Amino acid sequence: MNKSTLLSPFLQNCQHRIIAQLKRYLPPTSQIPQRLHQAMHHAVLNGGKRLRPLLVYATGQALQAPIENLDSPAVAVELIHCYSLIHDDLPSMDNDDQRRGQLACHKAFDEATAILAGDALQSLAFSCLNEIKMVQILAKASGSQGMAGGQDLDLAAEGQTLELLALQYIHQLKTGALLEASIELGVMAAGCCQHSIMTHLKKFAQAIGLAFQIQDDLLDAQGNSHCLGKTAGLDAINHKVTYPSLLGLAETKRHLQKQYELARALLNQLPFETHNLELLCTYIANRNH
Ligand code: IPE
Ligand code: IPE
Ligand code: MG
Ligand code: MG
Ligand code: MG
Repeated sequence: MNKSTLLSPFLQNCQHRIIAQLKRYLPPTSQIPQRLHQAMHHAVLNGGKRLRPLLVYATGQALQAPIENLDSPAVAVELIHCYSLIHDDLPSMDNDDQRRGQLACHKAFDEATAILAGDALQSLAFSCLNEIKMVQILAKASGSQGMAGGQDLDLAAEGQTLELLALQYIHQLKTGALLEASIELGVMAAGCCQHSIMTHLKKFAQAIGLAFQIQDDLLDAQGNSHCLGKTAGLDAINHKVTYPSLLGLAETKRHLQKQYELARALLNQLPFETHNLELLCTYIANRNH
């Protein structure tokens, strides 16, 4: 994390808090089937920026939610995210050996165990939520109309040329949907019933979600594997359609800046304190890994 985007003490606390919460929900590695539980621990407790939980906490905090009400939705989105990373790295998908600076789950264990660890993390995620409306939001965001659908389109687009709008749609599904769900879950956990606030925050989420994936594409094209903790340059090797592949680096950076400014402008229009969301927004657009 670079100096200009240091997270606030509140967000740093949330980063610690989510790790403790994840440990609380994961089955112990001593419990049978031990190897599967070890693979789940490997994929969840291996670093990671925890941006989705931080979005849940920052949104909830802005709307005065008691922090205890935010723990289970924060855990649920992070578990879905970790499952998506395990599957994303499989040889049949992006084929990356590294994740978060360690061996990818299928390399540390084996492919079958990695697939099952992803499946089990997905089930565990839904078991954390006790409100049916939250289950529905997370199910839509992670299913065929969200992350999994986006991943399917991302793979189908390999080696193709797409219109920018089609790529934007893939990015919105594969990454944006889960970031948007994080914010929606934060609003719901705060018991906020104001439709206008939810609508406004969802627009913010869409802008920051797109900014997030544009930055991910830029880092893949420009970053180094050591800093990223995953293989840099893999998008080109896999013939992915990305913002840099369609637009070049300079124009991609302009698009990132535009989405970042839109996200900030949307936050500024809200009638409550959004300091932590602003910090997250800046972090997402400027992160170096
Ligand atoms: C990486 O997400 C995968 C994408 C959705 C692009 P993050 O950059 O949030 O990964 P971690 O959780 O910090 O490792
Ligand atoms: C993956 O996008 C999004 C997911 C749903 C996991 P990428 O394939 O670009 O993510 P990285 O770069 O491998 O982290
Ligand atoms: Mg991928
Ligand atoms: Mg990938
Ligand atoms: Mg990427």
